[in-house]
Amino acid sequence: MALIALAADKGAPGVTTAAVALGAVWPRPVLVAECDQAGGDLVYRLPADPATSDGSAMLNPSRGLLSLAATARRGLRPDQIAEHCQRLVGGLDVLVGITSAEQAQGMTWLWGPLSRAFRGLAHEGGGVDVLADCGRLGAGSPLNELLREADMVVLFTRATLEQVAHLRERVTALTGELRGGPPVGVVVLADPRDFRASVAEVDRVLTGTRQRMEARGGVPSAPVTVLGGLALDPKGAELLSGQWGGRLDRTLLVRSAREVASTLAGRLDRSPLAEPIPAEGRF
Ligand SMILES: Nc1ncnc2c1ncn2[C@@H]1O[C@H](COP(=O)(O)OP(=O)(O)O)[C@@H](O)[C@H]1O
Ligand SMILES: [Mg+2]
Repeated sequence: MALIALAADKGAPGVTTAAVALGAVWPRPVLVAECDQAGGDLVYRLPADPATSDGSAMLNPSRGLLSLAATARRGLRPDQIAEHCQRLVGGLDVLVGITSAEQAQGMTWLWGPLSRAFRGLAHEGGGVDVLADCGRLGAGSPLNELLREADMVVLFTRATLEQVAHLRERVTALTGELRGGPPVGVVVLADPRDFRASVAEVDRVLTGTRQRMEARGGVPSAPVTVLGGLALDPKGAELLSGQWGGRLDRTLLVRSAREVASTLAGRLDRSPLAEPIPAEGRF
């Protein structure tokens, strides 16, 4: 089991949507944790499972990182996380994030203990993979602590020139900051009509940058792997932020998420998958 940090460099390429889509089809037990310092979106987007939320159809914004922070001052054990999680109507467990960037300012101390608790949850027989939506990364972000504890960092980008240029800078900075830390992978959000070409183009740019750095005598950086692509699919994204249903399973977004989830889970755990990817997902 693994802690996987999902993030972007700039813009809103679709990290939260990807976290939910990957969580929905993840082949093993999974928790999606909203760690975005700019504030979370899940409570506005996704309905709660009324069976586990005292009959309410809405996620409770005060149960999640906020309630966890209130109890974590004196230390945080991995087994304490579960009581702050909520379940979505489709059956996916989530830890909802803070509601505003202002709240994040007083909580920078939390990321260290929280990252170690996530890692403990994933590694010490807790039996779940943790997908941490870290939002946008910047230089010296307090979330770098979480990235260092992660088993893999996955950066999301759209295939536009400017996003790829920013991604390239972030990858260079990150592989330096995380030296000896987790591998960095990239997932490209691309138009289904030129999906393969977009993924290949981002791969080409990143490989070229690495080769140039090495040719200039820079310290060789860890290879950054392009893990695959997620479809830009407005209909799928819209369906995913509503009441989940059977049609969602056939959307390009979910079909591509299934491939990325399987690639990622396979890379992180070379043992056979604990359970086959459920054909119907968590819908
Ligand atoms: N794969 C996708 N296909 C189409 N639209 C998407 C996709 N992912 C995200 N979006 C849209 O882009 C906007 C930002 O998405 P979000 O997931 O919140 O991004 P981020 O977490 O990177 O800020 C939302 O309006 C969302 O519906
Ligand atoms: Mg987000």
